[in-house]
Amino acid sequence: MLAHNRVAVLHGVNLDQLGRRDPAVYGDLTLDRLEQRIAEDARELGIEAQFFQTNSESEFVERLHRLDEVSDALILNPGAWTHYSYAIRDALELSGLPAVEVHLSDVQNREEFRKMSVISDLCLTTVSGLGADGYRVALERLLQELTP
Ligand code: DQA
Repeated sequence: MLAHNRVAVLHGVNLDQLGRRDPAVYGDLTLDRLEQRIAEDARELGIEAQFFQTNSESEFVERLHRLDEVSDALILNPGAWTHYSYAIRDALELSGLPAVEVHLSDVQNREEFRKMSVISDLCLTTVSGLGADGYRVALERLLQELTP
C-alpha cells in the first residue's frame, strides 16, 4: 500500500442525476453505483478513493481549496462547469495536486461547446468517452504519479 494513496473523486453539476440522464450518452449507472465501481477499482490498485458531488459551484470550489489537507491527487468530472468555469480552474490550480479530468461521454464528438475545457491544461491527462472505465484509466494514471 502506498503512503500517499488518497485520491479524491469530485463530481460536479448534474452528475447526481446519472441513471436519469440519457443512458446512450452517459451509461445506465447511478452515481452511487458508479462510485461503488470506482471504489472497487481503487481498492484493487491500493488506492483510497474519497467521493464528493455537488450542484453548487461555490461548494465545489471550497472543496478544492481544502483538498490538499486530505488528498494526494484527484479525479474530477465537473460536468458542464468544465466548459466555462474559470473559478473552478483557478481553485484546481491552487490545490496543486496531480489531477486527471474524466468525462463519461465523448465530449470531442458532441456539441461544439463541449469541446472546450478550461481545466485540461492543468490536468495530467483527460479521459473521455469510456464511461465508467474512464475512471479506472484515471486511477491507473494517478497510481503512476503517486508511486515513488
Ligand atoms: C460530462 C460532459 C459534460 O459536457 C456534461 O455537461 C456533463 C457530463 C461527462 O461526464 O460526459 O454533465 O462531464
